[in-house]
Amino acid sequence: MSRPEAPAHFASPPGVIVRRTRVSDAGAFARMMDHPDVFPNLLQMPHASEEHWKARLTESAASGSPHVQIVAEADGEVVGAAGLHPIGASPRKRHSMLLGINVAADWQGRGIGKLLMHALCDYADNWLGLLRIELDVFADNRRAQALYERFGFVREGVRRCEALRDGVYVDGWLMARLHPAPLRGFPRV
Ligand SMILES: CC(C)(COP(=O)(O)OP(=O)(O)OC[C@H]1O[C@@H](n2cnc3c(N)ncnc32)[C@H](O)[C@@H]1OP(=O)(O)O)[C@@H](O)C(=O)NCCC(=O)NCCS
Repeated sequence: MSRPEAPAHFASPPGVIVRRTRVSDAGAFARMMDHPDVFPNLLQMPHASEEHWKARLTESAASGSPHVQIVAEADGEVVGAAGLHPIGASPRKRHSMLLGINVAADWQGRGIGKLLMHALCDYADNWLGLLRIELDVFADNRRAQALYERFGFVREGVRRCEALRDGVYVDGWLMARLHPAPLRGFPRV
């Protein structure tokens, strides 16, 4: 991906690039997701498997797949991943996609989340023309909520007891962002 040129405050940490996910990233995904600072805040299960990720990334990589999946890579190592995924099968929801993101435990708090969010919002706004991006975040995941708010997401609702996390049912927030300047055609003369 050549775009975007990030504004200074979202500039890549040195040596970090954003690129499309490859099927060969499956092992890196399994390692990232297997960490106790990562999977409990997602809807992943413990003991992530490389085979599972290989199957998912193969589906995303297929020609015509509606999934958009990117990674941040530092010196050849995958340090974060983010994606946009269709919401159901109805064509009437094509203007809307679901966002997911995670950063490897050792790389959290170092600007990787901002870098990935900037790249995905640019993709959604300027290349897919999405009107709406939505996501689910646990009610106590303040770090992720702060990141989303920075990119214009607002809380739209609370899902009570949304998911089981380490033996406790936890609430989730539905957050969403509308395109900041919905696209129009080029003015005709
Ligand atoms: C949530 C997550 C994606 C954020 O990515 P990150 O690379 O750690 O975040 P960044 O370093 O880019 O920081 C982005 C913003 O998050 C907020 N933030 C960062 N660390 C924070 C903390 N400890 N507490 C509260 N907010 C915090 C800040 O607003 C920060 O922006 P700023 O540094 O300009 O003030 C990442 O920590 C992660 O993957 N966590 C585990 C999985 C997860 O929770 N995924 C999201 C599921 S909804």
